[in-house]
Amino acid sequence: MTPPVSLLVEKPSIAQFNPPKRLLMGPGPGNAHPRVHAAMSLPQVGHMDGAFLAAAEEIKTLLRYAWQTKNAFTVPCSGTGSAAWEAAVANLTSPGDTHLVLVNGYFGLRHCDMASRYGANIVKLEKPWGEVFSDDEVAAALAEHKPDTLWVAHAETSTGACQPMANLGEMCRDHDCLLMADTVTSIGGLPVKLDEWGVDACYAGGQKALSCPPGIAPLTFGDRALRKMDERQARGEVTANWYLDMNMIKQYLVVNDFGVPRVYHHTAPISMAYALREALTILAEEGLEASWARHRASAEFFWDELEKIGLECHVPWEHRLPTLTTVKIPEGVDGGKVVTFLRENYNIEIAGGLGQLAGKVWRIGLMGYNSRKENAALVCAALRDALDAQGYYRAPGLLYKTRAHLRTSFHGSA
Ligand SMILES: Cc1ncc(COP(=O)(O)O)c(C=O)c1O
Repeated sequence: MTPPVSLLVEKPSIAQFNPPKRLLMGPGPGNAHPRVHAAMSLPQVGHMDGAFLAAAEEIKTLLRYAWQTKNAFTVPCSGTGSAAWEAAVANLTSPGDTHLVLVNGYFGLRHCDMASRYGANIVKLEKPWGEVFSDDEVAAALAEHKPDTLWVAHAETSTGACQPMANLGEMCRDHDCLLMADTVTSIGGLPVKLDEWGVDACYAGGQKALSCPPGIAPLTFGDRALRKMDERQARGEVTANWYLDMNMIKQYLVVNDFGVPRVYHHTAPISMAYALREALTILAEEGLEASWARHRASAEFFWDELEKIGLECHVPWEHRLPTLTTVKIPEGVDGGKVVTFLRENYNIEIAGGLGQLAGKVWRIGLMGYNSRKENAALVCAALRDALDAQGYYRAPGLLYKTRAHLRTSFHGSA
């Protein structure tokens, strides 16, 4: 008989996990597509298996379509959007570089923090949260500060504003500066045209309009960015982040034509790669233009429905993101209680504001698989109920003003 072993930590009594079923209508993650969940349970293969490497090549092809880029270096990065972001920063920043950062929300501040950790001098161009930058403002800042990199959030998830991108690439080329763009909340949900816009480095997230769970993130570098990586390497600069060193990872993920064998770097997240591959396949089946149009249609429906229950959006119509809407919390309403009410009574997740907008807005996402009018209508019904619970809906004329009411009272004919 073996003597009983005494364990330092006793066996815990924890049952199988059974999470609640929520409708995820916040700033992300959204609910993944059921086909994506199914793909995650496909048989595992190893990360050096030809079958897996073939799937990785398909992901790269699908990503080029989603982003509208011909960049050869377009890869799935292990980790969430922030990992792909940090990969862009770590590989493309030399100590002493100047990063001009367009700060009109929370994520602009995150870039300042991240890039400064890699030795960048940070120059902020700031705007109130919810506004966007004009080409002239950016051009003047480029001329004044002569940065090495301009960073911009195409879709600022903290504010719901969409930054016009069309001319930024050309302006950056005039100033010999790299353009780095965050498309975490735009990829798949609204037009993103990296090559047309002249974006040199870009990252995204899977868990928003791509309908994939968080854990794997798209990353792409254009020729100018790759040249900068080569120059850094030629100077003997080592990327100060081992896990995200793209010079090493490209030996695993980016094959050349000479039959050089792939080199192991880290164990790729196999099931997450299956998920992203399936999510991107679904996007391609629907077609980019159809996906953009669906996101636009459900967002416009949502904005109209919000107006009918007397709620206002924080961002002017012309700069609103279809994927993420910031809704002003009416005076006197406890925004946090509304978030809790929706979760407890409707199993719906929405979120409050971040930073400057904390306590001032709710953030409501219509992303990917969830971007449907039926979800927009359900959220509005739940919001109305939540406001009612705080005594607001009953107050005549205070919130419940439909567009028709406003129009007739404006003309004095009601
Ligand atoms: C605009 C933007 N950038 C970056 C991130 C970071 O992505 P993740 O949370 O996947 O790391 C987010 C996440 O919401 C985001 O909205």
